[in-house]
Amino acid sequence: MTDWTRVADEGDVTEGEPFPTEIDGVEIALYRMEGDILAMGDICTHEHVRLSTGWFEDGRIECPLHQSCFEVRTGKCVPGGPAWQDVPVYAVKIKDGEIYVKASS
Ligand code: FES
Repeated sequence: MTDWTRVADEGDVTEGEPFPTEIDGVEIALYRMEGDILAMGDICTHEHVRLSTGWFEDGRIECPLHQSCFEVRTGKCVPGGPAWQDVPVYAVKIKDGEIYVKASS
């Protein structure tokens, strides 16, 4: 996974609603926040649960299973829940109204 992958149209991602997608088996969620489109790993670091099925508020996604929270812009795990590891974030670019994510390190 070294190249940019088209994952959605820009209009698919709305404020306040996670947009789950996948690149080569890697689960990712897109978020629209403060005018930016962000891409973050969509699997909780506590157990294998898609974070995008949780609650997104104030820039954080809350895991639906045990309520760990992650900062969507940085992937940082917020202390207080059972998860302690961050989730990855990915580079995003928008070209001609289409969203591309680079899901490589
Ligand atoms: S599975 Fe996410 S906090 Fe437990």
